[in-house]
Amino acid sequence: GRVAVFFGGESAEREVSLNSGKMVLQALLDAGVDAFGVDTKGNWLAKFLTEKVDRVFNILHGRGGEDGCIQGLLETLKIPYTGSGILASALAMDKLRTKQIWSSFGLPTPRYAMLVTEEDCNQVADRLGFPLIVKPSHEGSSVGMAKVNTLVELIDAWREALIYDKEVLVEEWITGAEFTVSMVDNEVLPAIRLGTTHSFYDYDAKYIAADTVYQIPCGLDVQKEDELKALVKKSCQLINVEGWGRVDVMQNQQGDFYLLEVNTAPGMTDHSLVPMAARAIGMNYQQLVLTILGTTLE
Ligand code: DAL
Ligand code: MG
Repeated sequence: GRVAVFFGGESAEREVSLNSGKMVLQALLDAGVDAFGVDTKGNWLAKFLTEKVDRVFNILHGRGGEDGCIQGLLETLKIPYTGSGILASALAMDKLRTKQIWSSFGLPTPRYAMLVTEEDCNQVADRLGFPLIVKPSHEGSSVGMAKVNTLVELIDAWREALIYDKEVLVEEWITGAEFTVSMVDNEVLPAIRLGTTHSFYDYDAKYIAADTVYQIPCGLDVQKEDELKALVKKSCQLINVEGWGRVDVMQNQQGDFYLLEVNTAPGMTDHSLVPMAARAIGMNYQQLVLTILGTTLE
């Protein structure tokens, strides 16, 4: 059948998605799949509706594409698509509500608060202490995020994050290591440990910096990595993640894990983490793309 690759779009992660999409499309074409790209920006829909499309490979990142909107459109059009359905997509794009679901089932996630007023900043500083990390609730790739050490910095970061999102979340800072764990077609792939010289794994460390360190095997002993993988699997089940995804996790210095967030259409650029984890089990980029595409048939 004919496959449309949805990429680009209008979110703050447009550039990342353009890179992911170009690579996915090329991999499909190289594999002999009848595929074409659709940049879902501006007035794209009228033309798309005239195309014959059997399946969509959705590699849109961020709001509009990864948050249930495109998924709802494709459900209505009865076109199968890669990745999670409407509910999981919408939930996973909402960091605050994802954390509430995990917490309600007793899964560990850093303590947090929503910042609505300046008074909330004062209260959270008293309750959680510093450092803290401020996040727009519905962004990806660390857009609009900041680590803060003082009340003044917290208020500045909150105002800055409001440029990106009406809802702003603040979390306690977990001192330790960051891991990311990928899931493809119900299989949990080996964890990757992320090392950065930046204050956290920010946009620059993700896509630009040459000194970001990716450790795979991740250095955890087998039992601890199995614990991490089981936690990630459970965290995805509770959000109803389907097809594929990637969960970001912190580990504190005592060795305890804390879930940060789920990405339901994770990056597929040449710097990205799911392709790296797939390579570690002997699955190359093209095989990964075909495996993800195959999940639309289940
Ligand atoms: N949000 C970016 C694309 C990622 O998680 O890989
Ligand atoms: Mg994300």
